[in-house]
Amino acid sequence: MSVQTAISPAASTRPAHPPTLFSSYTLGNIVLNNRIVLSPMTRSRAIEGNVANPLAATYYVQRASAGLMITEGTQVSPQGVGYIRTPGIHSPEQVAGWQRITNAVHQVGGTIFAQLWHVGRVSHSDFHGGELPVAPSALPVEGEAFTLNGRVKIPTPRALETSEIRGIVEQFRKGAENAKAAGFDGVELHGANGYVLDQFLRDGSNRRTDAYGGNLDKRMRLPLEVAEAVAGVFGPSRVGYKLSPYFAGYSMSDSNPLVTFTTIAAELGKLGIGYLHVSEAIAGPAKIDSAVRATPSIRDAFDGTLIVNDGYDAAAAEAAIARGQADLVAFGKPFIANPDLPLRYRKGAPLNAPDQATFYAGEEKGYVDYPALSH
Ligand SMILES: Cc1cc2nc3c(=O)[nH]c(=O)nc-3n(C[C@H](O)[C@H](O)[C@H](O)COP(=O)(O)O)c2cc1C
Repeated sequence: MSVQTAISPAASTRPAHPPTLFSSYTLGNIVLNNRIVLSPMTRSRAIEGNVANPLAATYYVQRASAGLMITEGTQVSPQGVGYIRTPGIHSPEQVAGWQRITNAVHQVGGTIFAQLWHVGRVSHSDFHGGELPVAPSALPVEGEAFTLNGRVKIPTPRALETSEIRGIVEQFRKGAENAKAAGFDGVELHGANGYVLDQFLRDGSNRRTDAYGGNLDKRMRLPLEVAEAVAGVFGPSRVGYKLSPYFAGYSMSDSNPLVTFTTIAAELGKLGIGYLHVSEAIAGPAKIDSAVRATPSIRDAFDGTLIVNDGYDAAAAEAAIARGQADLVAFGKPFIANPDLPLRYRKGAPLNAPDQATFYAGEEKGYVDYPALSH
């Protein structure tokens, strides 16, 4: 908070007690019961046809005491697939599968957004009938894809033709329409972690020379066109956008992350997007040095709701909310292992430890069998 803000007349109208993790929050016209968000997490348990596993209804209902839940990344098209057993939202069967899940969540009073996902180059020809995955530019990618044939090296992708790019926007727009039909309360665009929107945004992965590459305005064009199209379906306040300014996997890089991410935050703000979800590690080996963190300048540049994420525990989350650095906090791994995470945080109760071996793939084990406190 700047000194100027601290002494502004508005300060006198501020509530005497700052909000806590358990204060309610109004996101657009949705009242969230608390400030705790289930971070989007791929669990690789989709069934035939990339339909969400029926067990996912239990999984999300178990976690519905979160103020807001964001689903695992959910493909908007066959072209957007990059991992086995991940759900989509482009076929009637997939929409029907999600409808059963949103019904179950709404019956217990939960709020759930779908995370719309297109992996771009983080994929393999095995998913695309032998064709190469698509990307802004045909640059090599470090990393492995997980296909039916096991772990395979990610191939150098094919650069999208300019004439194909509107098709990507359409895939997201259709994904949002399908999410609406499936009963979701809103959508989050997966603009993080090196997938297609991130690939277009950052200059390490986008070397195009057409209207979708080059300077930052051009690199932002696809992400902003997608955000605008999806906002046209749900209304902007029900659209979120996830960013990961310093994510460096899958050969991702940018020559000036602070400017790139602050600028796109401001542009998404102009579209009236409901929230930004910024994943920037505050703990562990990937911790981002406070001198280069983008979150504070994104907070200043964006008027809407800010969700922060990566490495938060209850104390760090409380501090971020009390200081006004964030409105909501998303929890990933702690929420996998603790279906009743809000209750545990409120009581200061001990936490179950997450079992990494069951994060991806499998069935009930490590998915819907973590005990709640009352058990
Ligand atoms: C098993 C697993 C799957 C994940 N899948 C996704 C995903 O589909 N979409 C996404 O945006 N982030 C995904 N993430 C990242 C999380 O949403 C979150 O940003 C990360 O775990 C850091 O938060 P945490 O420290 O609270 O776990 C995944 C993380 C894990 C552990």
